[in-house]
Amino acid sequence: MRIVDLIDKKKRGLNHTKDEIDFIIESMMNGTAPDYQISAWLMAVYFKGLTEEETAYLTEAMIDSGEVIDFGALADSIVDKHSTGGVGDKVTITLIPLLAAAGVPVAKLSGKGLGHTGGTIDKLESIPNFNTKLSVKELIEQVKKINVAIASQTQNLTPADGKLYALRDVTATVDSMPLIASSVVSKKAASGANNIILDVKYGSGAFMKTPEDAVELSKLMVNIGKILNKNITAVITSMEEPLGRAVGNSLEIIESIEFLKGHIENSDVADLTYSFAAIALMKVGMYDSKSEAKEFLKELVHTGKALEKFKELIEAQGGNSEVINNYDLFELPQYKVECESKKSGYIHSIDAYKIAYACKILGAGRDKKTDPIDYSVGIYLNKKSGEAVTKGDTLYTIYSNDPDKTKIAQQYCDEAFAISYEKTAHSNLIYKIVKPKEDDDVQ
Ligand code: URA
Repeated sequence: MRIVDLIDKKKRGLNHTKDEIDFIIESMMNGTAPDYQISAWLMAVYFKGLTEEETAYLTEAMIDSGEVIDFGALADSIVDKHSTGGVGDKVTITLIPLLAAAGVPVAKLSGKGLGHTGGTIDKLESIPNFNTKLSVKELIEQVKKINVAIASQTQNLTPADGKLYALRDVTATVDSMPLIASSVVSKKAASGANNIILDVKYGSGAFMKTPEDAVELSKLMVNIGKILNKNITAVITSMEEPLGRAVGNSLEIIESIEFLKGHIENSDVADLTYSFAAIALMKVGMYDSKSEAKEFLKELVHTGKALEKFKELIEAQGGNSEVINNYDLFELPQYKVECESKKSGYIHSIDAYKIAYACKILGAGRDKKTDPIDYSVGIYLNKKSGEAVTKGDTLYTIYSNDPDKTKIAQQYCDEAFAISYEKTAHSNLIYKIVKPKEDDDVQ
């Protein structure tokens, strides 16, 4: 077999066999296929797609590229959650200590920023000394000891996804349904948890632009989960506007800490965190009712138990947990620029993609896979949709290390905000839930 022939085959829209997909992934892993060939194959997949069968083969090949965590009998009680990627999406960071404090073990494999979206690993690495490179043994031991661990793909865990993910990020091949599905599900299958919750996002800040596409992607992932014996629930949520007020690595960790301190109860971040956590508690059989589960979870935030668990997590992974009480211990940006509203009225919408783009310009994301990240930069939305604004009020704040980049970011942010004279109604954050049914269909 030759990689060039397989690129040509996909370019012409033909289907791969399992052996061919295995060959592509093995050649990438042993270095016989250089990045430029894999990139060309990714672009062919982007345009011609993969069938559900090919996507399942790719997922299996990526799982087989590394170790699979075996929690044994414990696997049925362990939860893993994953987002298909958004802007300001810090719900993994708020959710995992909350679940662990609730007594639900969480084993989480996460990725770095992808395309315009932020990555949980980059965000956590903004905490001084936080180590996300856990070995399989370390991850298992930490989950057994403190109920929670979070790691990036290492050489041990789905390394093929790590490589493809980095190439997709810089070759404009991220927003492809089969590539997203195989990337997400391979990581989840390798993490050893049997209860998987996926946050499948749609909207301007997501890879899927419409709820219909998000439903299709969800069904694909739930079906592949069934083939791999994983119980996947996909929750389809809106990413038209950034989640929360902070976008940028350390800014998002600070907002997550504020949630865990109980300071931002009435917010989209709190709503999604409690909804996902309640779904998880029901999935593992701890609660039958969503409202009772939420009451219990809120109590864990109000009593400080969820925050305490986050502190334990940071310390277990070598990070400086003093950041929880002293935000100045994060890397600080040189400039903080408050930008005023030029109009009075109500915030009608905030385009998540434009805010993400502005953040990338500031240095919060990568252009090339080896690019360093500036953890300190980002954008804080002083106003969110539905809120009243008076001309001259601060609409958003830019955290930056470069005055020229600040100016460009400001243009994108100004374009992102739409202000109307009247208050407009906004749709629910959760659009639909897709679960495997008892029979072979997906509902
Ligand atoms: N998250 C992933 O892990 N992979 C993707 O491809 C997209 C989002």
